[in-house]
This record gives sequence, C-alpha cells and structure tokens, in this order.
Amino acid sequence: MKVTPRTRRQVLATAGVMAGSLALPFMASAQSPIVIKFAHVVAEQTPKGQGALKFKELAEKKFPGRVQVQVFPSSQLFGDAKEMEALLLGDVQLIAPSLSKFDRYTKKVQVFDLPFLFDDIDAVDRFQSGPQGKALLESMVNRGLRGLGYWHNGMKQLSTNKDKLTRPEDVKGLKFRIQASDVLEAQFRALGASPQKMAFSEVYQALQTGVVDGQENTWSNIYSQKFHEVQKTIAETNHGVIDYMVVTNAKWFDGLPADIRKGLSEAMTEATAYSNKLALDFNEADRKKIADAGKAKIQKLSKEDVAAWRKAMEPVWKKFEGDIGRDLIDAALKSNK
Ligand code: LMR
Repeated sequence: MKVTPRTRRQVLATAGVMAGSLALPFMASAQSPIVIKFAHVVAEQTPKGQGALKFKELAEKKFPGRVQVQVFPSSQLFGDAKEMEALLLGDVQLIAPSLSKFDRYTKKVQVFDLPFLFDDIDAVDRFQSGPQGKALLESMVNRGLRGLGYWHNGMKQLSTNKDKLTRPEDVKGLKFRIQASDVLEAQFRALGASPQKMAFSEVYQALQTGVVDGQENTWSNIYSQKFHEVQKTIAETNHGVIDYMVVTNAKWFDGLPADIRKGLSEAMTEATAYSNKLALDFNEADRKKIADAGKAKIQKLSKEDVAAWRKAMEPVWKKFEGDIGRDLIDAALKSNK
C-alpha cells in the first residue's frame, strides 16, 4: 500500500497511541495507555520469543497503566511479507526481523549475510557493539525505521531431504528456501542450487511437500518449527548468522514523551541482554533435542569439508563488496579473534 500524507493522517487519527503521544500527551497518559504492538514470526520458545516477552514485562513494570505491550508471535499478526509495511503504517510499533530481511531498506545490513564472515556469535556481538554496528541501527531512519538494538539467534546450519550432505557438490541442483535476501540467493547459486525466497511461516509445509529440498537456519528455529521432522540431514556448517534488529517506526518513537522513550530504551537494553544470554542456551539445548529425537541425522563436518563450503561460497563476497562497502566488511572481519 502506498503511504500518502492522507493515509498517514488517518493512521495518526485512528491509533490512540499516536494521538496520545503527539497531540495530547498529558490527557492521553491519564486516560488510555500507550499500546505497543510487537509482532514477530518465530515461536515463543525461542530467543526472540522470550526477548519480546521480557521487554513487555519490563516496559509494563516501568510504566504501570501508561504502557501496554501486546506481543504477537508466530506471524499471528504480520508475517515476513507485511511486517515492515505495517510498521511504517503504524499498525504495529515494534518488529524484530532477521538481519537478512532489510535489503530493501539498506544494502549495508547485507554485511551480516556474507557466508563465513563471522567465526561465531561472539564475533557478531563484537561487531554489533562497535561503531560500525551501532551506526547501522541508525542507517534506515531516512526510510522511517529506527533500530533499537540487535538480538542474537545464532549460527546457521544447512539441512536437506537427502542422506548425503558433507560437501558443496551434495547440494547441486537442489531447491532451497531462503529468506528475502539477495546475498543468500547468490550464496545458493554459487553452490549450483536453486534458491527460493519464502516467508518463514511457509517453510515447514514447503519442506514437507517437497516444494523445496532444504533450508538453512539456526538450531532453535529448526527445532521450534519441527523442520528436523521433514528433513533427513542437518550439516553443522555454521556458515552464517541469523540475528535480529529490533526496529520501530522512527516518527512514532521520536514523538513519544521523553520519559517514556527513555524508559522504553532502558527496557530494551535489559531485554536485549536477557535474550542474548538465552540465545546460546536455546541453540545448544535444541541441537541436543534434535539429536535425541533421531529424526534427522546431524552431520558433523571435518575441517576440510568446511574449507570446501567456504571456497564454494567465496564468489558471493566479490559480488556484494561494492554495495556493502569494504570498510564494513573489514570491520566485521576484525571482530573475529
Ligand atoms: C527465517 O526466516 O528463517 C528467520 O529469519 C526467522 C526468524 O525470525 O528467526
């Protein structure tokens, strides 16, 4: 939908939130609470699911009766295809898309999708906490999006409906579901596979019915979506990262009363620390649950196998270096120890 000044005015007029914060801050705070809708696409039993609930708890505790946070998990309110648009229209106030889903808004965030860029989630954390990472949170303000923080999920693993999955040649000709990212598209093309962009909520069925042969995701997403029940092999590639940017509508956020903005930022910082700490635990525990379930085989890889995947995916870097910027890639590389 195209956002005209008129539709924006209508949104402002109908959302109590906006009327309260922009036009009548004092009256509104005495009457109706500021309602913050937080939509996301994963299950509650995931790092992001728990982070969203923690933010709700903290924000409501700080502002009893003044702030109400409604969390909508599992694409219940908006899925991948609609959540950014909904945020810009004021239909939802917080979302936390994976970093792979921003390439329509900035090419810079694509840095996170480069295969084998980060050694582990600690390196990702160091980059996000550094000056370049922090600047990326502000890089979409001119498009109406303000980043409030990064939340971790974890490193990606590769899965297929085939028995053999140790080397790049094992995925030649296979169809893979990918998130809406041109970098990820190039990554699978470099492997000689066919990538298909698809919303997260559709992946289980696509795997089950054979619309696609495989996908890439973190242990916690694989387990909570039961992908391991419809895949034969999960190779422990750790070839990339799925992390999130919690984003808000910049106009809405900047229009909130100063004390609310400050309090919500503090709640976000605390929820971020909580969720990030949980992320490692979730992924470790869910890897074990997948192994115990015995449905999909977990394929460990040798150093030589990993080197072969790395080499096969290498062309992706060259292709996107111009868009992302060498400075950003170098800063990310420096975060590996
Ligand atoms: C995916 O689409 O696979 C992930 O980005 C889902 C998520 O939010 O973790």
